[in-house]
Amino acid sequence: MRFFSHLSIIPLLSLHGVLAFPSYGTLAGLSRSELEAILPTLKPGVPESPPGPLNDTSAKLVNDKKHPWKPAGKKDIRGPCPGLNTLASHGWLPRDGVATPAQIVNAVQEGFNMGNDLAVFVTYAAHLVDGNLITNLLSIGGKTDRTGPNPPPPAIVGGLNTHAVFEGDASTTRADFFFGDNHSFNETLFDELTAFSNKFGGGFYNLSVAAEFRFQRIQDSIATNPQFDFISPRYFTAYAESIFPLTFFIDGRDKSLHLDMNVARGFFQNSRFPDGFFRSNTSITLDVIGGGIDYIFSKHPVPPGSNNGTVNSYTPNPNSADFTQFCKLYTDFVNITIRGLYPNAKGALLTALNKNLEYFYSPLVGSGCPQVPPFV
Ligand code: HEM
Repeated sequence: MRFFSHLSIIPLLSLHGVLAFPSYGTLAGLSRSELEAILPTLKPGVPESPPGPLNDTSAKLVNDKKHPWKPAGKKDIRGPCPGLNTLASHGWLPRDGVATPAQIVNAVQEGFNMGNDLAVFVTYAAHLVDGNLITNLLSIGGKTDRTGPNPPPPAIVGGLNTHAVFEGDASTTRADFFFGDNHSFNETLFDELTAFSNKFGGGFYNLSVAAEFRFQRIQDSIATNPQFDFISPRYFTAYAESIFPLTFFIDGRDKSLHLDMNVARGFFQNSRFPDGFFRSNTSITLDVIGGGIDYIFSKHPVPPGSNNGTVNSYTPNPNSADFTQFCKLYTDFVNITIRGLYPNAKGALLTALNKNLEYFYSPLVGSGCPQVPPFV
């Protein structure tokens, strides 16, 4: 009896990580043997089509009685995105920070009036690289340490903190991955942002501040981060995220395009709507964000590129999509980023991958960007 109970610990120990693999752990980047061990332990989620646009896109109270702010609990996950963090801390998303893509699309539409095309495109992009395509769950943060001393498998769980597939360098209020923490609010960066708002925006975050600070964050990373990487898709998301505070963090009844820095801190640091906050009074679509990107890019045009292992070695990368090539952003994301993360997909995983790729493409139907054929 003693002999058997001793033996049974061995498979339990070696299976420990697998049994504990979280339902939101990403399957992206896993080896064939990791997939073989993990897939049978997962309970498949119910596949859902992306929600459609809102019927009523007017400004409305979103910090309401049904959605009070509560601090994140010990086990609740938060990450690099102040928008999703806020939605989770107000219960527009599950407060634990783990959600299905459809829940995220609904929440960003309802809570911030994000346009359906932008919401679907961004959410499925993130889900494909950071989410679990079998359980249909995505974590809005999560540990991603693959390199620590002897990390147990559950440390590799993906989520939006994962570096270099969606999350990236030169963020507004989060440090570069190279410096250790790519997802927590960084007071030093926020102080710099405040100084820029004083210098270029009369104490507010506005379009001029967005343009100047975007450029500053790029220059800073070039000068301090030997591994600075600024190619598509990060190139696009970095500029887009400089516009987001103006389109989403300003009360929908206020037409000034000036963001109060206390309100900004509330979102960026505390994941919190101001009291009585109304969402935007118009749907913020891909086109709206594209217009903002054109403006800030025109002030300080920087081509996509990277440092090559030393600081101040920024080299443009002509193979990366830039703002004249939106279709290439999509095509390269599918053919290079996603394909590279799932070299061993077959069976149910391959089916789920193709379904999510179809959802990801759906906002581009009619755009003139050809659809990448399903993976085989
Ligand atoms: C639609 C689903 C969304 C996903 C999957 C998503 C994901 C992300 C990720 C991964 C980042 C980190 C990028 C980085 O800085 O390295 C980020 C940053 C950011 N997101 Fe979101 N986001 C979403 C919606 C939103 C919404 C609705 C808002 C605004 C209400 C928002 C505002 C921002 C801002 C301002 C940043 C930049 C933070 C900074 O640089 O300090 N996002 N988002």
